[in-house]
Amino acid sequence: MNLKIAVLSGDGIGPEVILQAKKALYAVGVVFDHEFVFEDALIGAIAVEKTGTPLPEQTLNLCLNTDAILFGAVDDSKYDAVSDSKLRPIQGLLKLRQALGLYANIRPIKPYNDLLDLSPLKRKIIEGADFIIFREISGGSYFSEKKTNEQGTLASDLCEYSEEEIIRISHLAFRTAQKRKKKVTLVDKASILETSRLWRKVVTEIAEGYPDVTLEFLLVDNAAMQIIINPKQFDVILTENLFGDILSDEASVITGSIGLLPSASLGNSSALFEPIHGSYPEAKRKNIANPIASIVSAAMLLEHFGLHIESQKVYEAVHKAIELNVVTADLNPYSKFGTNEVGDFISNYILSKDDLYFK
Ligand code: IPM
Ligand code: MN
Repeated sequence: MNLKIAVLSGDGIGPEVILQAKKALYAVGVVFDHEFVFEDALIGAIAVEKTGTPLPEQTLNLCLNTDAILFGAVDDSKYDAVSDSKLRPIQGLLKLRQALGLYANIRPIKPYNDLLDLSPLKRKIIEGADFIIFREISGGSYFSEKKTNEQGTLASDLCEYSEEEIIRISHLAFRTAQKRKKKVTLVDKASILETSRLWRKVVTEIAEGYPDVTLEFLLVDNAAMQIIINPKQFDVILTENLFGDILSDEASVITGSIGLLPSASLGNSSALFEPIHGSYPEAKRKNIANPIASIVSAAMLLEHFGLHIESQKVYEAVHKAIELNVVTADLNPYSKFGTNEVGDFISNYILSKDDLYFK
């Protein structure tokens, strides 16, 4: 297969972790005879520095004309105080989501068996947990009308959802549940919010087309608690933008390190793959950032294009690295391995040169 992949490494640890994902994809290309062509483009703070805007037109054009996007992270605290919000680095990501019509953010949560004791939660609670959060990312309070009065004493973020926006992500969630444990949990605040009531109505109608899937409703405050006390009950969590943002960071606690978690953002004709950890500026260029989230994001990319065996090979390599303790310090404080060494181990394992460190 030939795939053109836009690489938007961005800020902070983005470039160093994305480099490891590229190495893994390169290895997959060699072993399975695929041609992955990478093209780099600017986004975030680095783009503001070099071009004056967090999402340069050139980057957007590249993303519109590519098969997939590998995304690192954006943000730099230097821009926190910038009054023109359009110049803030994270606007690069938000605008990209909007311009590409990326509406479904998919975040799988499944702890690695070898790392169960890393989580602050008890082993018996998290062992066997395996669910996916389907977070709507193109609507809600992130993108609806925003206002501040002239005096700066009153502000509002409207939260709006159309039926259409709910329908498209819901089908994805139900289709995924059909291939898994056949349960969708819609998380909302229907006791208070009109948008939540619309979600319930629309999702209930959609559920009729998936009689093999059970639909449950859960209020977001209760969901926040259930994720911690009984995460095994979940299969597919479906929710709106802001709730999904908050719950997916919370859920990352189950896996022991946010440095492990990948995500995919899908639209009708675009697909973006991104670690969920963000730019982590304190770790920049220190060779300590965990590359696994980026590498498994690349595995999600392969899966998206139907390259199932290839994707499994990447997961196998990641499992092997964890099993042999070839991990960064967030997973083992005594580790002598850094970002690059973990990335090397994983790509070499894919190339079947896994004896590099152990002979
Ligand atoms: C995420 C991030 C983004 C979000 C930010 C960087 C805009 O927190 O992907 O979860 O809130 O969607
Ligand atoms: Mn977030």
